[in-house]
Amino acid sequence: MRVTSTKMHTPWFLVLLLVFVLPAAAFASGDEALITRASQVLGPLPASMPSAENPITPEKVALGKILFWEPRISIDGTVSCSKCHPIPLYAADGLRKSVGHNCKENPRNDPTVFNAANQISEHWIGNRTSVEDQAKQAVTGPPAFGMPSYESVEKVLRSYWQYETLFRAAFPGEKEPVTIDNFAKAVGAFERTLVTPGPFDAFLKGSRDAMTAQQKKGLGEFMDQGCVGCHFSPFAGGQMYQKFGLFAPYWQYTKSEKIDEGRYAVTKAENDKYVFKVPVLRNVAMTRPYFHDGSVDRLEDAVRIMGKIQLGKDLSQGQVQGIVAFLHALTGKIPDNALSVPILPSLK
Ligand code: HEC
Ligand code: HEC
Repeated sequence: MRVTSTKMHTPWFLVLLLVFVLPAAAFASGDEALITRASQVLGPLPASMPSAENPITPEKVALGKILFWEPRISIDGTVSCSKCHPIPLYAADGLRKSVGHNCKENPRNDPTVFNAANQISEHWIGNRTSVEDQAKQAVTGPPAFGMPSYESVEKVLRSYWQYETLFRAAFPGEKEPVTIDNFAKAVGAFERTLVTPGPFDAFLKGSRDAMTAQQKKGLGEFMDQGCVGCHFSPFAGGQMYQKFGLFAPYWQYTKSEKIDEGRYAVTKAENDKYVFKVPVLRNVAMTRPYFHDGSVDRLEDAVRIMGKIQLGKDLSQGQVQGIVAFLHALTGKIPDNALSVPILPSLK
């Protein structure tokens, strides 16, 4: 009897082990391996994107946020950063090409300003060195604010008395704080706080259920297929330039109407033809249309094109869907401070 009962217990224990414990352990170690790999090539977003030249302070961020919404520093009074980077649309306007003062069309599609401050450069062709440089040059940019000079922008800002107070608080001890360079620093400091952690970050930090099984599979594909060869770092991009169309001319697949020579315009080097900055893929599911000219509407098509002309691969429908599902896990939470609208200063 005793012998029989031992015999009966052993199989039950084994059954339990085989059915529940081992698969769960294997599943957990699958997640573990995925997290380890993804942490090495991608990684979670930092809390902010600091800069030694422009330290982030609460006063600069508060001023920068107001300036981000300020249209009166544009030639026709209608253009602000927020016009082309509307926060509710994840700071990208959803147009193929953005529209500036007097309805002027920009030559390229606008990327989001979220998670944008830690890249090798700004703009598709890398012709802006930092977010501060970008903000400064935008005000005189012909298809953006269209102001005739930096002095004309300073003059407008000085005519609103509250700006004097806000600039003084943000740049203490400066004799004349209301300058274009301080405008750029304040806007830049605000942008440096715009990080949007999402399900992918929660997953990397140990929350196993933050991503679905399909998203985890897609993350595996994103790494296995070689997307991370170019789209790496916590930003999944923004760290290098690459030719768009390594295996075939891009316009054959994007059906672009105009052929943009990319970084060639900056360097005039023959091997920079059709080279663009590898874009950040954070929030990419929210920022259609895609590519430097907004030529492709659907994320699924953008992923398929990437496989074809950047990797020379025909990705299967399942692979594309998995990768798209993973890219949705890069959609993050917009910081509360960016979601509230500031009141702009009134005239002196
Ligand atoms: C008229 C529309 C428009 C306005 C106004 C505008 N932008 Fe942009 N922004 C764009 C477009 C278009 C691009 C892409 C330009 C390019 O790459 O050639 C861009 C690019 C950027 C980038 C680079 C992102 C990246 O990933 O490379 C940043 C940062 C940015 N804008 C911030 C701002 C700020 C700050 C302001 C206000 C000072 C501003 N923009 C005003 C349309 C606009
Ligand atoms: C050899 C480098 C390289 C590889 C590999 C690569 N990409 Fe890209 N990716 C780029 C470049 C460069 C662009 C910008 C193209 C343009 O619009 O000029 C881009 C753009 C994108 C865009 C559009 C982003 C936007 O905001 O418009 C998506 C989505 C994307 N890649 C996803 C992927 C996926 C998914 C893979 C893997 C299947 C992949 N990429 C592989 C370099 C690469």
